[in-house]
Amino acid sequence: MEAERQDGRTKYVFIGAGWVGGLTSTFFASRNPNSDFFVYDINKELISKWNQHTVPFFEEGLQEMLDQCFNKNLFFTDDKERAFEGGQYYFICVHTPTKSKGIGKGEMQDIKFVEACTRDIATFYSTRSITKPIAIIEKSTVSPRTCDNLSSIFREAQTTFPENRQKFSILSNPEFLAEGVAVRDLTSPDRVIIGAGSDPISQTLSSGLAALYASSVPGVRVINTATYTSELAKLAANAMLAQRVSSANSLALVCERLGVDVTQLAACVGSDARIGERYLAAGPGFGGSCLEKDLLALVYLAKSLGLDEVAEYWRAVYTMNQHQKRRIAELVVREFYGNLSGKKITILGVAFKKNTSDCRSSPSIDIIRYLLDEGCLIQVYDPQAKRDHFMREYASYLVDEILTEDIFSRITFEKSIAEACQDSHAIILVTEWDEFKQTDWVNVHKSMQKPPYFFDTRGILDRDELSKIGFKAFKLGLGFSESKHN
Ligand code: UDX
Ligand code: UDX
Repeated sequence: MEAERQDGRTKYVFIGAGWVGGLTSTFFASRNPNSDFFVYDINKELISKWNQHTVPFFEEGLQEMLDQCFNKNLFFTDDKERAFEGGQYYFICVHTPTKSKGIGKGEMQDIKFVEACTRDIATFYSTRSITKPIAIIEKSTVSPRTCDNLSSIFREAQTTFPENRQKFSILSNPEFLAEGVAVRDLTSPDRVIIGAGSDPISQTLSSGLAALYASSVPGVRVINTATYTSELAKLAANAMLAQRVSSANSLALVCERLGVDVTQLAACVGSDARIGERYLAAGPGFGGSCLEKDLLALVYLAKSLGLDEVAEYWRAVYTMNQHQKRRIAELVVREFYGNLSGKKITILGVAFKKNTSDCRSSPSIDIIRYLLDEGCLIQVYDPQAKRDHFMREYASYLVDEILTEDIFSRITFEKSIAEACQDSHAIILVTEWDEFKQTDWVNVHKSMQKPPYFFDTRGILDRDELSKIGFKAFKLGLGFSESKHN
């Protein structure tokens, strides 16, 4: 048994059939019919969903890619031996959440799943000799120097075949996929980063990985760098993105005070090529599974390196994001003179952004949490996000509180905008779904309590139009319409 296959086909193994693992493996398999791709997950239910030939989550364009390679050169399995056997490149695609307990709680990344996967690979090779070197690839976001930790885990396990210690390498190849546009990010990435050691085996494996990208995306730009650099690049990129959103959100507050429109301000500022126009949209605060988590991991890293000012600097970006969610809820409460008790509030969109059903770290969670504290009822409409998933995320986000039956019963999910707005006192638009731009708000207005409020936290609607219809309209980054108190 060895890592070299007799048929000349290279075998790539993905551990984790979640969003990152499922997407990346399917993409590579659809572009490389002469190689084999095996995806393993400890979650048998998830594997069986994939094996029904359907994508278990919502990501545009992925099903079509799956159709091209499913069970031809792409296989999903919960059988570890079958997945690992004869593999040469092992991609670790498991989640790395923020630690919820112990040292580093609330900031440090929990890499126990990444370690567990490495241990699985190490155990697998502890009973067989490696002939052709293997690569263990950090696809998941990890803190710098994790490669050393994984390397020693693999090395320690090779007691029966000590020569295996010279036949592997840990590579870093972070994913930069944004949900909803991940297929575009895979098919035309700005760049691919591969971090590797300078020894010949690492360099050979790194070239092999670069070749996989080159055959998948002709002309792709690959940046080869040291492993620590690549690991840090992922944290740094997400922290810089988070910083841009928090900067835009802080300016939105200034705009509201001055009566300046933040979208126009962003257009002026973003037209400076040094700044750039992307990622400057003010909103309810950034969410998703990566930005907040990676930003906090950078804060923790800085602290652990004794760089307190650096930690404080990045922590302020996080604080601004927390403030953004809180100030939206406070604005609503203030407009109702501090009394939301028994009132119905509509939340339009609970997904962390449009075109995804994902609610992980969604700003809607904090906004709803603050409002529920005021005793109101929440009526939600989201075109894709499901109540079960949202409630799970809501519960996992509570640090010192628990999800009570009472809270659970005060959040209802409706099937349409009309139902979610029926008898409601206020609408808070939290996710920028296109559907909300095409809605007939005149009809919606008729079924609401009078006079209804409309808080557009994404700034995607015409505030003055809403105001003409009869809403007390607030647009984030601009403020209330003048007719509010008429
Ligand atoms: C995650 C992280 O959010 C991201 O930061 C990182 O860059 C990549 O991994 P995602 O793919 O969205 O992204 O996570 P998730 O959808 O939760 O998938 C992880 C999968 O790994 C799950 O299906 C889980 O069952 C599986 N897993 C986890 C294993 O197979 N083995 C383990 O030991 C742990
Ligand atoms: C992000 C990164 O883009 C990706 O490279 C990384 O690998 C994972 O994290 P994702 O979380 O899917 O991807 O979403 P993204 O589109 O980047 O948005 C993150 C959050 O920032 C969302 O809540 C979004 O609404 C918010 N955002 C983004 C803004 O509020 N304004 C903007 O201008 C851009």
